[in-house]
Amino acid sequence: MRTLLPLAALPALFPLISAQNNHSFVDYTIESNPDLFPQCLAKLNMSFPDCTSGPLSENLVCDRSASPHARATALVSLFTFEELVNNTGNTGFGVPRLNLPNYQVWGEALHGVGRATFLDDGDFSWATSFPMPISTMAAFNRTLIHHIGEIVSTQLRAYSNAGLGGLDVYSPNINTFRHPVWGRGQETPGEDAYLASVFGYEYITALQGDPDDDEENLKIIATAKHFAGYDIESWRNHSRLGNDVQITQQELSEYYMPPFLTAARDARVRSVMCSYNAVNGFPSCANSFFLQTLLRETFSFVEDGYVSGDCGAVYNVWNPHGYADDEASASAASIRAGTDIDCGTSYQFYLEDSLSENLLSRTEIERGVIRLYSSLIRAGYFDGPDAAFRDISWSDVVETDSWDIAYEAAVEGIVLLKNQQGTLPLSSEIQSVAIIGPWANVTTELQGNYFGPAPYLISPLAAFESSDLEVHYAFGTNMLSTSDSGFDAALSAARNADAILFFGGIDNTIEAEAMDRDNITWPGNQLDLIAQLSELNKPLIVTTLGGGQVDSSTLKQNENVHALLWAGYPGQSGGHAIADIITGKRAPAGRLVTTQYPAAYAEEFSALEMSLRPNETSGNPGQTYMWYTGEAVYEFGHGLFYTTFQETANATDAGSFDIQDLVTASHDGYDRVEQAPLLNFTVTIKNTGETTSDYTGLIFANTTAGPEPRPKKWLVGFDRLGALSAGDERVFSVPITIDSVARTDDKGNRVLYPGQYELALNNERSVVVRFELKGEEVVLLAWPEDNEVKTEILQVQG
Ligand SMILES: *[C@@H]1O[C@H](CO)[C@@H](O)[C@H](O)[C@H]1NC(C)=O
Ligand SMILES: *[C@@H]1O[C@H](CO)[C@@H](O)[C@H](O)[C@H]1NC(C)=O
Ligand SMILES: *[C@@H]1O[C@H](CO)[C@@H](O)[C@H](O)[C@H]1NC(C)=O
Ligand SMILES: *[C@@H]1O[C@H](CO)[C@@H](O)[C@H](O)[C@H]1NC(C)=O
Ligand SMILES: *[C@@H]1O[C@H](CO)[C@@H](O)[C@H](O)[C@H]1NC(C)=O
Ligand SMILES: *[C@@H]1O[C@H](CO)[C@@H](O)[C@H](O)[C@H]1NC(C)=O
Ligand SMILES: *[C@@H]1O[C@H](CO)[C@@H](O)[C@H](O)[C@H]1NC(C)=O
Ligand SMILES: *[C@@H]1O[C@H](CO)[C@@H](O)[C@H](O)[C@H]1NC(C)=O
Ligand SMILES: *[C@@H]1O[C@H](CO)[C@@H](O)[C@H](O)[C@H]1NC(C)=O
Ligand SMILES: *[C@@H]1O[C@H](CO)[C@@H](O)[C@H](O)[C@H]1NC(C)=O
Ligand SMILES: *[C@@H]1O[C@H](CO)[C@@H](O)[C@H](O)[C@H]1NC(C)=O
Repeated sequence: MRTLLPLAALPALFPLISAQNNHSFVDYTIESNPDLFPQCLAKLNMSFPDCTSGPLSENLVCDRSASPHARATALVSLFTFEELVNNTGNTGFGVPRLNLPNYQVWGEALHGVGRATFLDDGDFSWATSFPMPISTMAAFNRTLIHHIGEIVSTQLRAYSNAGLGGLDVYSPNINTFRHPVWGRGQETPGEDAYLASVFGYEYITALQGDPDDDEENLKIIATAKHFAGYDIESWRNHSRLGNDVQITQQELSEYYMPPFLTAARDARVRSVMCSYNAVNGFPSCANSFFLQTLLRETFSFVEDGYVSGDCGAVYNVWNPHGYADDEASASAASIRAGTDIDCGTSYQFYLEDSLSENLLSRTEIERGVIRLYSSLIRAGYFDGPDAAFRDISWSDVVETDSWDIAYEAAVEGIVLLKNQQGTLPLSSEIQSVAIIGPWANVTTELQGNYFGPAPYLISPLAAFESSDLEVHYAFGTNMLSTSDSGFDAALSAARNADAILFFGGIDNTIEAEAMDRDNITWPGNQLDLIAQLSELNKPLIVTTLGGGQVDSSTLKQNENVHALLWAGYPGQSGGHAIADIITGKRAPAGRLVTTQYPAAYAEEFSALEMSLRPNETSGNPGQTYMWYTGEAVYEFGHGLFYTTFQETANATDAGSFDIQDLVTASHDGYDRVEQAPLLNFTVTIKNTGETTSDYTGLIFANTTAGPEPRPKKWLVGFDRLGALSAGDERVFSVPITIDSVARTDDKGNRVLYPGQYELALNNERSVVVRFELKGEEVVLLAWPEDNEVKTEILQVQG
């Protein structure tokens, strides 16, 4: 008796996927099967509820003096069971009887308004398309991340106020980019957990507003995703929908979870998305150790925050995970574990069965809907047109776009990997350029994935065409092509020019959602073409685009490839940004946020092996710059400048600290003692070259304290200084928190160990500061054990 939603052929929603999930790869996403999920993908005309007249006006939900929780509870208590269940999915049908409008939970804002109702032309037909997060993070500028988040939330509010979007988004993606083949690494701030934490903090607090603001006028509800251990789409036919990855408590705590701890505890994110995959046998959306013990009890997730399943993930608890026997018990297990809202239709179709089979009570279902409405209430949903942010309109979209922060972010995120004999910036003697390669004349490729329509898209070709340089364009070869039919035209264009600019690499035809790469080599015959171009003995500059790194060791070694840039997915103004770097209008100061490994790395061990620590038996050489024992082609943190900087230490010996004194000291201005600075890493930076340039500095810690194995080093801080002219001197000072020098023990506890430590500036270690921690080791954050909780979930399976 599935009477709730009228839809035929329910059991065939997703074809059954083999529970073994080995060589039967199927990735039936809702997006790739729109016909099966009309209501999930519905673009609703959303409106704000009427609190001035009608059935809701008399209810506590419209009383602005009551607490959000009390208001949401009062609202939900009016619902019949069918009405309640109708609002457990991402497409919430509201309650027509009460004039409660429908609501679409599924919004996206990864790097701009990505999922809303865009009109065909004129007002509300576009939104600013910033670079992908992998590019933005490469700028190493916290202010920039925050600024982008503020603009995105303003633009989202404009769409929402016009009835074209909601008040929440399924963004940001703060998973760590562990393995280079991952198709969605482009959505993340890179391979480092500290960077992902910083990015998440800045983006979430910019979307939502100041976490310490008691007024609780949420601007936009952010979602930290995907919780947790999610990072492989389809590698060698292992579907993300059924992957069950093994992660030790140590590495969960050390690497996979810190961005979520920061998002929940410090940024006060209001929504978290549980992921498709299982960890250690438990699908994330049915894992109460994740959703209760860690998220709510250990990470202090806000009381009324809600967890949404990834789209289809509740269904996946049954198929292909086989964790529950059918969709009704998958729904019950997910609700009980703490998945409040189902992006999908399992709850809406099957919760009635779950209830009638006594797998759940109404109260347990209400809990999630109350949490969703509590959050919407905090965003002013029931507060009428005079509530905060309701005056934001289309003109604010136009104005915030005109600030050109998309361009600024693209410029700041470009990384100069190689620059022989000062080939870049191009000398003024160069009058003409050959523009060649599959990335030269692109449009939406600049936007990566999860994008909305941009106001304009500037390709490298278009940017150079609008410069003073004479341009000779030839396509050359396609991303994946093995045909050399375009080579002659490319070589001829190159012969006619003073310098050769090649734009290539990878894009979303090769790395994408639901698609990992097989290998990390340059695809197709792009390298063959570059090799032929390099024989012309003209200045040759290769710009690599795409989120994941491709092994460019042959380009690094080839002395006739004079310069190498990485530009990620640079967004709507990407071409302008690249052209301005190449011509020297702007100077590069970005740094890699991922390791560029040699191609063999992707063949050495299984991409499903989550352990970062090297393991001779499995062939794992260690993952991320923290543990990798091989030699990178270009290291995490690598990046050159057009100028030279002198870096002078203020002091190289910071002395010693007593651990007990540190953890008992007063920490005014910080919620927790471990967030207080241990010391400031202070260096004087002087531009000793001739070019005005920003300066970026990364600080890494390493130690001989605590048990083996120890990471080679780990990132503890960074900063970017703006525009130092020739001769300028500036102080670069970064606070190093107590927590950042802690390590993680084998149970997952964060521990401060006595011993010797070093803090080093950049990979070059151009400044090293030493200090010692003395006394007994202290646990800063105790990691819980995950025992009895699992029993509770198993009972639901019946
Ligand atoms: C998948 O794995 C199962 C169990 O590990 C095995 O029995 C089965 O033969 C495998 N199927 C394929 C197609 O490899
Ligand atoms: C939304 O509103 C537009 C314009 O008013 C209308 O054309 C469209 O049919 C509506 N869509 C839905 C799903 O109601
Ligand atoms: C639940 O939603 C469906 C789909 O919009 C609708 O047909 C049905 O009337 C709703 N039920 C109630 C009780 O609102
Ligand atoms: C992956 O699955 C597809 C579709 O079932 C199949 O065509 C392909 O051969 C498989 N690839 C591997 C490496 O098993
Ligand atoms: C660049 O691409 C656009 C389509 O995106 C096409 O119209 C144009 O002709 C191309 N330019 C050249 C010089 O090929
Ligand atoms: C490497 O990957 C690319 C694209 O992902 C693919 O086209 C190519 O065939 C692969 N090469 C090898 C040797 O597997
Ligand atoms: C090393 O890899 C082997 C083979 O995959 C595995 O059995 C073992 O548990 C791993 N060791 C550690 C310490 O993870
Ligand atoms: C520089 O180091 C000295 C100790 O050598 C210290 O007293 C001073 O506070 C430091 N200055 C800054 C800006 O950190
Ligand atoms: C670090 O620098 C800040 C800002 O200059 C200062 O307020 C703070 O006292 C310094 N902290 C330490 C531990 O030196
Ligand atoms: C830190 O790393 C450097 C470079 O590998 C090494 O020389 C130094 O001994 C290490 N210091 C500590 C305290 O581990
Ligand atoms: C950081 O980004 C902002 C844009 O939000 C920019 O104004 C500022 O100059 C950048 N800082 C540096 C040091 O480049």
